[in-house]
Amino acid sequence: MTTPQTLETRRITEELYALPATMPVADLGLLPVNSFLIRGSQPLLADTGLAPLGPALLDQIRHCIAPEEIRWIWISHADPDHTGNIEAVLQAAPQARLAMSFMTAGKLQLQGRSFERAEILTPGATLDIGDRQLQILQPPYYDAPETLSFFDPRSRALFAADAWGGLLQQPLSCATQMSQDTLRRAITDWLAIDVPYFHGLDANYLDAALNAVEDLHPDILLSGHLPPAPMAGLGTLLREIHADLQPGLARAA
Ligand SMILES: [Fe+2]
Ligand SMILES: [Fe+2]
Repeated sequence: MTTPQTLETRRITEELYALPATMPVADLGLLPVNSFLIRGSQPLLADTGLAPLGPALLDQIRHCIAPEEIRWIWISHADPDHTGNIEAVLQAAPQARLAMSFMTAGKLQLQGRSFERAEILTPGATLDIGDRQLQILQPPYYDAPETLSFFDPRSRALFAADAWGGLLQQPLSCATQMSQDTLRRAITDWLAIDVPYFHGLDANYLDAALNAVEDLHPDILLSGHLPPAPMAGLGTLLREIHADLQPGLARAA
């Protein structure tokens, strides 16, 4: 497989859908590239995927709702794997407003793309989408400083942007299809490419960031670059990977 591919829309819960795709990364494997849809009273699309897959993304959305019902388009950050189809979705969803950070908006503007229908968000704020208040967060780690994630207290899903991304060897619909060792390898391999400073993160900083996530008691991880996963154990896994990447540091028992 040498070109991006769209996978089947997957219903995660009653109101939550994954709109997955994969992107080949040289001969190293496949990177999942996911958008997500919350079909609440004000439907929200989280990220807009890869530009070459625009028509397929709209088909994935149609599998869940009519695109014109979308009221919010969450843009986690300005990287092209998250912003490829903003214009196409805005056109298909004339009531929709973008939700993103100030710096994401600025970077999009520098790309010659500016949008009138936008809500600027900061970590710690909430976004009212009718039947739920999304809690706006900064993910535990990221590849672009403008990145925002969110927690949906109604579905108990954590949208984590690039965090917990992993490089796969085959398309998968759920992270539980991988063994724990395969999942650890997938995340470690992608960290080396996307977040090469990860090993140098202060362990206390990472621990505090993961504790803050765990204090929300999320049930489901929605990563832009991993099949949907149960959240249990994923904070511990990141702590272990961090320790593994630091020679001479003993892993906590
Ligand atoms: Fe990114
Ligand atoms: Fe990404």
